[in-house]
Amino acid sequence: MTGTRVLCRLEEIPDQGARGFDGPPGHVGLFAVRRGERVWVYENSCPHIGIPLEMVPHRFLDRKAEMIVCFTHGARFRIEDGECVSGPCLGDALTPVEAAVDGQGQVLVPASAGA
Ligand code: FES
Repeated sequence: MTGTRVLCRLEEIPDQGARGFDGPPGHVGLFAVRRGERVWVYENSCPHIGIPLEMVPHRFLDRKAEMIVCFTHGARFRIEDGECVSGPCLGDALTPVEAAVDGQGQVLVPASAGA
């Protein structure tokens, strides 16, 4: 990945949970979902009408932490690929952000993520 920025440290994302991040000025915020050592990052923008998914800070997952949820109109998205499987944006998908965990346990994303 060329031109990266540090999103956070891996342990700052709860395991089997999620965490939201405000973007730099002029950027869309991001959120990350973690399962053990794996992390998926998406832009925090519902493909339905382009608003942030969460209503409570850092709450992006359903009760069982199986799916990503847009809490405004209830769309549900697969964690692994961001595809909407129910709700008003069925068949659409969240915008994925390439993410990597480096040797120091830092989660890296492209510097332009959310631009
Ligand atoms: S704004 Fe996300 S489902 Fe409507």
